[in-house]
Order: sequence, then structure tokens, then C-alpha cells
Amino acid sequence: MRNKIVAGNWKMNLSLNNALFLVDAIVEYIEINAIKNTQTIIAPSFPFLHPISGRIKGKIKLAAQNCSEYNNGAYTGDVSTEMLKDCGVSHVIIGHSERRKYHHENDETINLKIKKVLSDDLIPILCIGETLQERENNQYFDVVKTQLIKGLEGLNKHHADKLIIAYEPVWAIGTGKTASPEQAQEMHAFIRMQLGEIFDKAIADEIKILYGGSCNAQNAAQLFACNDIDGGLIGGASLKSEEFIKIIEAAEKI
Ligand code: PGA
Repeated sequence: MRNKIVAGNWKMNLSLNNALFLVDAIVEYIEINAIKNTQTIIAPSFPFLHPISGRIKGKIKLAAQNCSEYNNGAYTGDVSTEMLKDCGVSHVIIGHSERRKYHHENDETINLKIKKVLSDDLIPILCIGETLQERENNQYFDVVKTQLIKGLEGLNKHHADKLIIAYEPVWAIGTGKTASPEQAQEMHAFIRMQLGEIFDKAIADEIKILYGGSCNAQNAAQLFACNDIDGGLIGGASLKSEEFIKIIEAAEKI
């Protein structure tokens, strides 16, 4: 049985005050409603991780949106996994399509980051997904399979317990165009099958696979009801407490 995860990717948004206000509202909702089957994760920007870690009261987990593949040293602008751990981080989003697009992160770098995160006992959320053109050219299964195989290269079964995958079709991110539950389920089942080949079926059955891309309070319940969809990685809809709370509620009710 895989419990649900609802993860908010705040990207480069919010002021510190608004971020604290948002986190307090989420924690209060989880406490008052005794949410217990759904793990909530939030991924604020780097400077807000430490102040927010003081507010989560063990009710939500804290994720970083990226990290360095190196231990430490002369890497201006980068942040190490050890620094993230010092700020109370437990999860790290790796290979988000915005990192792939704007920072030219490729599958090799992403694989190094995944290994770094795992070796420091953090949990990676590996993002994969095809562009609109790749979907229209019917290359989407191949693209996702390659991202998965290259991103997870060299990992063993022992690492697999800690892994979270997020399927985020690039054409659905921030566009208001969500994958239909059928499209998302089809890809999630394919990803689980591939994970079965990389690790083994029993392990693949335990790995959480999140959907991301214009997931919101209106469509979350239908998406989360699909067999292989274990929750969501939410961008825009994670920035407003009422909306994000409704998504947590949808996950908890399943
Ligand atoms: P979105 O972003 O929900 O705004 O589409 C999702 C993501 O990029 O993780």
C-alpha cells in the first residue's frame, strides 16, 4: 500500500512573510484535520528553508528545489546537500524541466545529483517528462524511458526504497493544460513497469510516482484516484493555502 504524497513546488515565488503565512496555514490544517495518510512536502526557495524549518512542527517535510552534485568548494551560487540538511531539508527535487531547460541540466548531471542526494540520506524526487513536440511525435514513452534509465543509472535495490519519481509532462507545466487521468495513468503504469525492469517488480510496486503539471483543486481527486498515481507535485496551485489544502484533502480522502 502506497500512501499519497502532496508536494508543493514554490519555485521562485513569495516573500518571506507570505511564505511563513502559507506554511503556518498548511500546518494548522494538517493539525486540526489530523491528516495522517498523506505526506505533505513543501519546496520553498533556498533562503526560506531555514526559517520555514522552524515552523513545520514535524507535520510537513521540507524539500529543496535543487542541489549541487559536489560536496563543497568553489561552486559560486550552488548549495550542497550538507547545507540543506543543516536547514532541515529531507527531500530534494532533481531534474525539474525548468532546470533542464534554463540551466541545461542533462541526464548525466541529474544522475550525479541523485547519487549525491541518496548518499547523504536525503530523498530525491526525480522529475521526468516529455515536451509537447515529443508527445506529438509519439516519442513520449522513449523520452521518459531514457530519462529514467539515465537518471537512475548505477542505483541498486537498496536505493530504490528512498526514491520518488515525478512525471511532469512539460506541456502541462504552468500551462493550465493538465494531462487527462487516462494519459497520466498510462504513463505512470509505463514508468512503474520500467522501474520493475531497472530494480524488480516488488520494489517498483512500492516506489511513489507523483503527477505534476497544472494539477489543482479541481482535477486532483480524479488524478489521484488512478492506480499508479501516488499524489502530485504542485506548482502554481501550491502558492495559495485554500487551493493547496483542497489538494491535500483530495489525497487524504482516497
Ligand atoms: P504547475 O507546476 O503545477 O504550475 O504546472 C508543476 C511543477 O512544475 O512542478
